[in-house]
Amino acid sequence: MGVGKKHQEEKLINMKKERIILITGGAGFIGSHVVRRFVSNYPGYMIINADKLTYAGNLENLSDIESKKNYKFEKTDIVNKQAAMALFRKYNFDGVIHLAAESHVDRSITGPDEFVFTNIVGTVNLLNAALDIWKNAPEEKLFYHISTDEVYGSLGKEGFFTEETAYDPKSPYSASKASSDHMVRAYNHTFGIPAVISNCSNNYGPNQFPEKLIPLAINNIKNNKPVPVYGKGENIRDWLYVEDHAAAIDLIFHRGTPGETYNIGGNNEWKNIDLIRLLCKIMDRKLDRPAGTSEKLITFVKDRPGHDLRYAIDSSKLQKEFGWSPIPSFETGLEKTVDWYLSNTRWLENVISGDYEKYYDSMYSGR
Ligand code: NAD
Ligand code: DAU
Repeated sequence: MGVGKKHQEEKLINMKKERIILITGGAGFIGSHVVRRFVSNYPGYMIINADKLTYAGNLENLSDIESKKNYKFEKTDIVNKQAAMALFRKYNFDGVIHLAAESHVDRSITGPDEFVFTNIVGTVNLLNAALDIWKNAPEEKLFYHISTDEVYGSLGKEGFFTEETAYDPKSPYSASKASSDHMVRAYNHTFGIPAVISNCSNNYGPNQFPEKLIPLAINNIKNNKPVPVYGKGENIRDWLYVEDHAAAIDLIFHRGTPGETYNIGGNNEWKNIDLIRLLCKIMDRKLDRPAGTSEKLITFVKDRPGHDLRYAIDSSKLQKEFGWSPIPSFETGLEKTVDWYLSNTRWLENVISGDYEKYYDSMYSGR
């Protein structure tokens, strides 16, 4: 039996056992969906959510599961080496799903330092803690690093990112994520830490912080504010519903082979301007406004410096190996997302109060 197949079978046996799993960044957008999925689907697992609670971390995202017996929150800054080590000493984790990161490209352009600290140093701190604590039985463990398609750089009109595409990051954010991917691979290769990496395309759905395109546009349309579209709106992104990402993470965590990389994408490319027009139509319908009202809010603004033109993921490896596929309709996913934002007004109001206004003014005034 091949090493990979043997490992997968052992992993399936382990699934049935009690395990203590660390999820970092579990109070953020994608992390909260992953935490909810694992807490609900695996009652035998103890899920430890370690999060610093930056502006992007919000425990309200998890209010429905916070009292479950198999869930615990640990406020932790992964940049603090001692704190990362203490966490591993306390729980001796069986597996790690590492999502904690600074995640917004625009913020990485105005302030790259935090991206270096959290995304690179924070990841290395977790790897060092795993290396130290797991030294006796590393083969039973797994360090799963969540990364992005942006590490591959920017595509022209043709082609897709595969797992073999050479890294070519262009923004401080993607460079910091690429760096952390390299460190994870190096710890796998050099020290034998069992590690997998997945690189995913743009996520959308409930609980996303309204600095990212879709929730920012929903919030602005709702409040009759201009919807800022960078440049000519011709940049292309491959959109994936967040619960499809969480389902892929579940499969890769349980069945992925250490040392491997898996690409995850929506097979769903949209030019920004076309996406925003579709969103405007949905918002007019949901808000009972005459057709065409929201489109009038579209405002072309100064482009993002170094703006990547196009991302598109080839996820055939994941589809073939694990039978994963994303939901077929973008419109359905967008409708669900709009419904969530329109019915969770308290969540949105809390998130956009205070510092959000300052952030918005500094990023968009005079643009
Ligand atoms: P997010 O910004 O919504 O959440 C990040 C979380 O990490 C927050 O809860 C924050 O408090 C926490 N965090 C930040 N710094 C920390 C630190 N020093 N110590 C501990 N916790 C800290 O991000 P997201 O969009 O949910 O992305 C999650 C992960 O998925 C990231 O690694 C990101 O690179 C990756 N990713 C995101 C997307 C996307 O479209 N959003 C796509 C592909 C990959
Ligand atoms: O591809 C995966 C990546 O997707 C993740 O790794 C990142 O964490 C995530 O933030 C996302 O990066 P993008 O830069 O693609 O996402 P964002 O929502 O910021 O922007 C999407 C597109 O919309 C991009 O082409 C820039 C454009 N845009 C964005 C904002 C915020 C606008 O035109 N106007 C805006 O106001």
